[in-house]
Amino acid sequence: LKVSVLISGRGSNLQALIDACRAPDFPAEIVMVVSNRPDAQGLFRAQAAGISTAVIEPRDFPDKVSFDRAMTEILESSGTGFICLAGFMRLLSPEFVDHWRDRMINIHPSLLPLFPGLDTHRRALDAGMRLHGCSVHFVRHEMDSGPIIGQAAVAVLDGDDPDSLSSRVLEAEHLLYPWCLELVARGMVTVTGDTCRIAGH
Ligand code: GRF
Repeated sequence: LKVSVLISGRGSNLQALIDACRAPDFPAEIVMVVSNRPDAQGLFRAQAAGISTAVIEPRDFPDKVSFDRAMTEILESSGTGFICLAGFMRLLSPEFVDHWRDRMINIHPSLLPLFPGLDTHRRALDAGMRLHGCSVHFVRHEMDSGPIIGQAAVAVLDGDDPDSLSSRVLEAEHLLYPWCLELVARGMVTVTGDTCRIAGH
């Protein structure tokens, strides 16, 4: 499976995917990393791994739809068949989401459908959650929604603050994302309506 990863920043999940793809029997290959920000740290990780990068900046386009179309062109010219969003901090047009329907997944730092959107760790703490975590899901029009492929839960500990909780969740993200990509790339995930079926589960 030829995968592109879309980022906006640090790229630690990108790194986890790069590392997983290095295993000789891993069923996916990262063909390109695309960032909407020229200063994204993750671009260095891609370069260090010898992966092509592209920076595409919203300010160079009149509107979201033309930006998203240009992104699809770049992605398809690199042979991309599947997209992993990894900290891509920009809402995608319905047209882009439809074009990549069931071929685009995202990682979100909460146990969806709880806490879509930003600032999830603080909100989980404020809600008094004892469990928190992360989800990998297919992308649908609504932000942080769509059929869930996998989730990982972590304990919320007394004395946690958003930083300590987010680093515990991030460790789980780095295990969950490659695992979910592997399931999809092996053809083990079928989307039926709003949910996923995983072969053998
Ligand atoms: C992660 O917490 C991810 O779940 C969220 O954005 C953050 C990106 O971190 N969507 P990184 O750029 O992968 O380090």
